[in-house]
Amino acid sequence: MTSGATGGGGHPADGLLPGRVVISETELQAKVAELGGRITADYAGRIPLLVGVLKGALMFMADLARSIELPLEMDFMAVSSYGTATKTSGVVRIVKDLDADLTGRHVLIVEDIVDSGLTLSYLRKGLLARGPASLEICALLVKEGQQRVNLSVPYVGFEIPPSFVVGYGLDVAERFRNLRGIHEVAGVAGQ
Ligand code: IMP
Ligand code: MG
Repeated sequence: MTSGATGGGGHPADGLLPGRVVISETELQAKVAELGGRITADYAGRIPLLVGVLKGALMFMADLARSIELPLEMDFMAVSSYGTATKTSGVVRIVKDLDADLTGRHVLIVEDIVDSGLTLSYLRKGLLARGPASLEICALLVKEGQQRVNLSVPYVGFEIPPSFVVGYGLDVAERFRNLRGIHEVAGVAGQ
């Protein structure tokens, strides 16, 4: 019995376990502090509106916001491009829109990971049309060599090889978001 509270019938994450640590909690915290310092300097005299992309950016957003020493505001949106699969579909759907009016705001999109770049490219276009004073992107992770669109990401935490990773907000089939580090995904023999 591995599906537990899912009520039987199995779960897409059954048989998956966190594998090798790709980025440790300590490395994450140091990088987030560094990004926060850069953003603090770059946005001095402005009040950035951090736009977190749910759910993956949850942990990153919480830590990044606390490492920015400026008055700031936070808002969240949710998009869906993956379902429970691990390959991009190229289709992005807004599941939850922002509460804030972006007119004249200094918007900083906070995202967990850039893979093909399709999600952020779509979001960027959509948010630019709402008249922000500026719009930049901060992504914790960028997968090397995977981008299918030209996307400028001025704030990048780590460039990683293109294997699937979980933890610190990132999931596979909604699992493993609560891990403190970034891990590869491993299987269990016999599943
Ligand atoms: P993109 O549109 O291909 O750039 O995909 C970006 C989105 O896919 C991210 O916001 C994540 O939600 C998800 N994603 C891409 N790669 C991974 C991964 O390795 N682990 C978990 N989620 C991922
Ligand atoms: Mg995401």
